This record gives sequence, C-alpha cells and structure tokens, in this order.
Amino acid sequence: MGYALCSTGGIPLEYNHVTSESIEQLKDIVGAKYVWTDRDKLIPYSQDEGSDVSLRRMPEAVVLPASTEETAAVVRLANKWAIPVIPRGTGTGLEGGAVVEKRGGIIVSVERMNRILEVNEDGLYMVVQAGVITADIQKEAQTHGLLYAGDPCSGDSCCIGGNGATNAGGNRAVKYGTTRDQVYAIEVVTPTGKVARLGKRLKKMTTGYPLEQIVIGSEGTLGIITELTLKLVPLPAYTADILAVFPSDDTALSLVTALPKAHVDVTCLEFMDYDVISVVQDWLDETQPCPEGGAYMIVQVDAKTEEELDDVCIAVDELSRSLGAVEVFAADAEKVWKVRKAFTEASAAECPVAAMEDFVVPPDRMKGLLNVLKGIGTETGVVFRGVSHAGDGNIHLDLLRRGFTDESDEKRRLAAFEDKACAAVYDMGGVVSGEHGIGQARKALFAKYEDPVALELMKALKQAWDPKGILNPGKLFDM
Ligand code: LAC
Ligand code: ZN
Repeated sequence: MGYALCSTGGIPLEYNHVTSESIEQLKDIVGAKYVWTDRDKLIPYSQDEGSDVSLRRMPEAVVLPASTEETAAVVRLANKWAIPVIPRGTGTGLEGGAVVEKRGGIIVSVERMNRILEVNEDGLYMVVQAGVITADIQKEAQTHGLLYAGDPCSGDSCCIGGNGATNAGGNRAVKYGTTRDQVYAIEVVTPTGKVARLGKRLKKMTTGYPLEQIVIGSEGTLGIITELTLKLVPLPAYTADILAVFPSDDTALSLVTALPKAHVDVTCLEFMDYDVISVVQDWLDETQPCPEGGAYMIVQVDAKTEEELDDVCIAVDELSRSLGAVEVFAADAEKVWKVRKAFTEASAAECPVAAMEDFVVPPDRMKGLLNVLKGIGTETGVVFRGVSHAGDGNIHLDLLRRGFTDESDEKRRLAAFEDKACAAVYDMGGVVSGEHGIGQARKALFAKYEDPVALELMKALKQAWDPKGILNPGKLFDM
C-alpha cells in the first residue's frame, strides 16, 4: 500500500496521504455516506472561526463516525497508515486547532455523536456525547431545574467535545470555572485507537494521575473525547444583571479586586471599554448609555431568595458608585448580553481583524495589563479593540488591520505587538491563552514564553501517548 514511510515507531518526519484504498476502508467502518472527499463538502472544514487566513487548508477527507467504536476503528487504521487525524467539533475554534496543517490528514468530526444520554437529578450529572451543542445541554439542564455552568460565548454553535478539548471558558467562569471544572469523566479514543474511560463521578479520588484533566485542554493532541459526564448544579432561584457605567477604564477595573474583598460573589464580571462600546453601538444601531471615555462593567449575580438578591445588587451598586461609577442600572439581561456578545462581529465590521489575543493574568493585574497593552499599541502603531472577562483576568484584543503601509509592515508591527505584549503578560504571571488555546496560531509565542521544562514534559507525554504522532500534529507545539 506504500505506507512504508513511518514504520520506525518514532514520530515520523512525514506522514502518508489518503489513498483510494484507505477511503474504501474508512467507508467500511462508518458507511460510504459519512466519508467525504468532495471539494464542496470539505470547504467548510478547511477553516475555523479564527481570523488568520494563512491557516486555512483543505483536509484530504472528512470522516463522521456515529460512535466511539467507529471513531476508535478509524483512528486505529490512521495509526497503522500514519495518516494524521484532526479531531473536530463544530469548528468554532479561533486558533487553527481543528484544521489540518501542512502535512494534511483526515478530519474526524464528532458532529453525529450528538445525543444526550442521561440526566440525573439526584446525582446532579448529565452524560452526553461529544457532538451535543453546548446551548442544548444548558437548555436540557434547565428543563430539570438544573444548571450546566459552562457558558462559552459561542454556546449556540459550539459543541461540548470541543469545549472539553480546548477547556473553553466563557462568561460564568468567575464563579464556576472553565470546562474542566464542569467535567467528572470522559470517554476518550486514544491516538492508537483504544478506548479509555478517564475520571469518575466522584467528589474525590486520589488514584494516580488525573488523566481526564490532562486530556481536557490538550486540543485533540492526546485523544478524541467522545462522551462526557458533566456536573450540574441547582438552577439559581434569582438572577440579576447589572450594568455599571464608569468614567474610565481604571475606575471600572477597580471593581475586579473590590468585589471579592467586600465578600460580594458574582457569577459574571465583564469589561468593555469606550472604543468597543462605540463600535457595538454602531453595529447594533442602538444608543448605549456611556460618557465619552467611559467603560462598562456587566455584573451578573444570583441568589437563593429575593431578599438575598436585593442585598447583593445593593452591594454591587454601592461598591461601583464608591469607585466612581456614574450610573448603575438594573439591566435587561437579553439586551446587555447582546451588547457584550456583539463584540466579535462589531469589531470585524469596523475593520478586518488580523488576530485575536486571549491573554490572561491574575485578576488583580488586569488594570495594570490594560495600561501596558495600550502603551505597546501606541509604541508599535497597532490599534486594537478589547473586551475582558475581567473577573478572570482574561482579555481579548482584536488587532485591527489598520494603519499599516503594506503587508510586511503589518506583519512586522503585529509581531512586535504580540511579542512585547506576551513578555509583559508573562512578566505579570500570566499566559498567552486563557480560553481559546494555542492551536497553530499561538504556537510560536507559546514555545518562546512557556517554561522550557514544562514544554519538554508536555512533549514527552505526547510521545508516550502518540508514538507515531498522528493525532492533531503541529498543534500546541512542534515535536
Ligand atoms: C468572547 C469570545 C471571543 O469572549 O471568547 O467574546
Ligand atoms: Zn471569551
């Protein structure tokens, strides 16, 4: 079959390509209907939702297994043939993690594994297949009076397998943490095509390495997550959304440290600066209440009783005003979150976006970080629009393709911005990605700024789990 290239057992320098014979064998596993090689069908799988067009690349084939067993059989064959396998959910990633890289390969999509298998009200858990849309999990939990607390901004279109693979964050991470905090256990297809059940529905266990937590956030490099056992909590009885309008970024961001110091627990704490508020205002064609140069903090709180909710709302109001807020509104949830969630579309409508940053620092460094980033923007001539999951110390910057003389000027200045910004972020104890991951787009910065021994250990782990290096090669780091 001409698959001699990679039989050495080590990570191959090159991989094999899909042949008509391999396509036939894949069809035998999943059915002819679910192995695609037609260009038209492959096009949507050649990209994710990131802005870096250089990462767009056609896969050799897309395979859609219906079960864990089919997924494992596909991976076993790909492993034997040394053909890269790129796991993919609904493709809402931003860093090129679910797109083939230059050595090609097969995209294995979990889209057809889209069933909710069990909801248990006594045990407070839900078992789902990887392809279930996150919003459907939230809705299903809600019908049982329960909450699935994971809440990425792309919740309407992303799927839970992808959330697990990237350890997706979102707006409620302040209170509930990221995806890894919502997961008891996962079923995983390993890079050699075995099926492992990692983690258990237990409050505690100390039985060796927490492998489920190592697979979560590994961006499909250590396994394909096919099933998840998720934690649920009782639905909060009362929720309120508050919009605090501040005269400046610094006054707004003071709330990040002031709230926990005053024992005020919030579910969400989102920051938007004046430039973002203005572009969202234009995009939605809705006037937003904000003084020139002002900033927003969107605060969500919940409580068991109405009195408790009133108390926490009053506390947020008083604290915000004491820090200089000019207005504090009881906000209409739908309206205020529409404004926050319009960020990506609004800034892209204003100007093409070259890259989106996802820096995270300890929350108490957030105010300092924004000032440093603005300085680096001025110094390098890079204009950005930024929003922040401020309560997590996580900021997204859309770097605009504006003000550059030509392509090489753009490349040079964007690279200078990212490098200086990263240096500042790591200096403050932060990292390059809080929730979007490394994928292909952040690989160089990750390689430069990550602890070298940590990187060495990650690569050793990859080598042990995936001796032929077939699972999502060229993501996170190069071997
Ligand atoms: C957000 C996405 C981009 O927070 O993570 O809007
Ligand atoms: Zn985000």
